[in-house]
Amino acid sequence: MKYHLACPDISLAGIGSTQFWSGDTTKAENCLFEAINTYGITLVDTAEMYADGRCERIVGNVLASFPREKYYLLGKADPRRVQVYGLRKSLLKSLEYLKEDYFDLYLLHWREDVDLRSFVQEVEELKKEGYIREWGVSNFDIHDMQDLLSVPNGENCYCNQILYNLMTRGPEYDLLPYLREHHIMPMAYSSLGSSFVSNKPVKNNKTIQRICKENNITPEALMLSFVHRYGDFPALFSTSSMEHLRSNLDFDNFDILSYMDEIDREFPSPTHAVPLEKL
Ligand SMILES: NC(=O)c1ccc[n+]([C@@H]2O[C@H](COP(=O)([O-])OP(=O)(O)OC[C@H]3O[C@@H](n4cnc5c(N)ncnc54)[C@H](OP(=O)(O)O)[C@@H]3O)[C@@H](O)[C@H]2O)c1
Repeated sequence: MKYHLACPDISLAGIGSTQFWSGDTTKAENCLFEAINTYGITLVDTAEMYADGRCERIVGNVLASFPREKYYLLGKADPRRVQVYGLRKSLLKSLEYLKEDYFDLYLLHWREDVDLRSFVQEVEELKKEGYIREWGVSNFDIHDMQDLLSVPNGENCYCNQILYNLMTRGPEYDLLPYLREHHIMPMAYSSLGSSFVSNKPVKNNKTIQRICKENNITPEALMLSFVHRYGDFPALFSTSSMEHLRSNLDFDNFDILSYMDEIDREFPSPTHAVPLEKL
């Protein structure tokens, strides 16, 4: 099973920025720096709604230490602002906070009531002007994708960022195949379950515990490895712990495919359509 191949600039694991919202920001900044500097992560995800631009400012401060080709910057527009002020305003403000000239990928964070025809027209103009290399959407279920692809240039959508992890396999039934058919790259967010939803069902599962022990990896590394099992689309996670950063990325030699029958029995792939879950 192969989806549209991710752009080679995009690392399969990406670092989110919700960890800059609260808690120990310095630790989180160090983790983002280390992820790029030591682990070769290029994909960095942020959004204008994260602490009303505060996360973008912090991400910008970290990225200022690196040459532009070292990272692949993804931003997301808040549709509630887009409806009132227009997409251009959101984009320019985010670039200002980040101290950047362009986004590698710019997404509509969720659909809300945004007019898709106008959105695509505007985002295509911003792309021509060099503010965006590619554009896409987030939290779009299959019917939203169908609506998007029915408007002029909607097929230029590059990516749909969705909630997808071992505990939330709904997209496997129809959305992931649909994206593959239309050559649109999926991107998983909250690959570890998120900081709001406990991943205890995975951590407490006896089969998962045994597999982790046999391979000397953590359940979080297994969860990331699950999203990456075909190596065809990226998965985002966030952390403000250097130890978690290291152990999460520690699955290079772990062959999850040889365990998938067992994992499927514990966390089955859906057998019917499931509405896309969102955080
Ligand atoms: N498009 C959207 O609507 C949307 C929605 C949600 C998120 N996102 C993006 O996706 C990114 C990642 O998602 P997320 O932050 O919701 O969730 P996540 O990455 O699934 O989970 C983050 C939580 O996991 C903890 N964690 C990480 N590694 C761990 C480990 N090895 N052991 C124990 N705990 C660990 C982190 O705490 P520590 O800091 O202690 O490690 C944090 O509390 C976000 O930052 C954001 O950029 C997008």
